[in-house]
Amino acid sequence: MILVIGATGFIGSNLLLKLAKDGIYPIATYRKNSNKDKIASLFINKFPDGNKRFKRIIWRRAELRDFQSLIEAFEGVSKVYHCAGFVSMAFRDRNKLLEINQKGTSYVVDLCLKNNIEKLVYVSSIASLGSSENEIIIDENSSWNNSIDKTPYAYSKYGAEMEVWRASQEGLNVVIVNPGIVLGAESPMEKIFKRTNHWLSFYTTGTSGYVWIEDVTFVMIRLMNSKIKSERFVLVAENWSGKSMVQAYLKVHKIDNKIIKISKVTLYFFWLIEHFLEIICLRKRFFTKALIAVLFDRKKINGEKIKSFIDFEYSPISLSLKKL
Ligand SMILES: NC(=O)c1ccc[n+]([C@@H]2O[C@H](COP(=O)([O-])OP(=O)(O)OC[C@H]3O[C@@H](n4cnc5c(N)ncnc54)[C@H](OP(=O)(O)O)[C@@H]3O)[C@@H](O)[C@H]2O)c1
Repeated sequence: MILVIGATGFIGSNLLLKLAKDGIYPIATYRKNSNKDKIASLFINKFPDGNKRFKRIIWRRAELRDFQSLIEAFEGVSKVYHCAGFVSMAFRDRNKLLEINQKGTSYVVDLCLKNNIEKLVYVSSIASLGSSENEIIIDENSSWNNSIDKTPYAYSKYGAEMEVWRASQEGLNVVIVNPGIVLGAESPMEKIFKRTNHWLSFYTTGTSGYVWIEDVTFVMIRLMNSKIKSERFVLVAENWSGKSMVQAYLKVHKIDNKIIKISKVTLYFFWLIEHFLEIICLRKRFFTKALIAVLFDRKKINGEKIKSFIDFEYSPISLSLKKL
């Protein structure tokens, strides 16, 4: 049986849909407060017999911080997709990020080894890629540089990858995917857009790598079913500036917002204010210098490697935006 950890999330639920299209109904994890009804609706909207298909999924409750619950989730499992993770850019979430993303992944890989799992496909992030000052293009070979400050999220995803590579050394077949910002209906990115959807939209002058959700799930399944192992793949179709992405999104959704550039100085001002508020115990910090650097980073992310391993072309981002 296949196990999908994090099946109630954006990537996990889209993976369930893609697997169901091929008639595969895995074991899927959820948590106490997970919204399984939302997944049922996705199935009902996608397939004429969606409810019947949804009911074929075997749901098991599992929490990445609870080893025992994971042991139970692994019963009868032979292949694992690990799509669970805590996504937060906030400094105040640093301990929770390490607990869920790094420590939780160490539990997952230990159980993969214990249960002789055939293969693990782990969803990491471009946040865990290395980058040095003089590199203009970032890819799978960019080495992690500890002297460059990173966001707590980046450390947690890098730590998780280290656990996956450790398990690989111990004999587990693993593949890591490092998607850029994943676009799709109900994606975390879309939620941010919708939240700020009044009459002003903001952007910073950095660039980011984007990829369509269907491409991510397609590649994950192809990698799982292939002989490829001990590899990581950056999944980025195109790099877009913050301004072009905001403009394209607004155009597609016919929203007539005013677009405002946020300067580095403004963000450093917030960073300073938050420091002060934290000292006087009024607020826990969100901003880090590393996050500000990411928002203004113009390095390009190269997601071409996957094309030399499987027969695959990325969906153009402008078309993906129209499907939102
Ligand atoms: N979306 C992107 O643009 C993107 C880009 C690159 C990498 N990623 C990576 O892809 C993974 C999934 O992202 P996503 O966009 O699907 O995020 P998401 O929508 O927030 O989903 C996260 C999933 O992880 C589960 N989860 C969170 N904390 C957990 C815990 N302590 N124990 C067990 N399950 C837990 C969530 O369960 P609940 O439903 O109960 O909350 C949910 O199923 C993350 O690891 C993220 O780093 C995402």
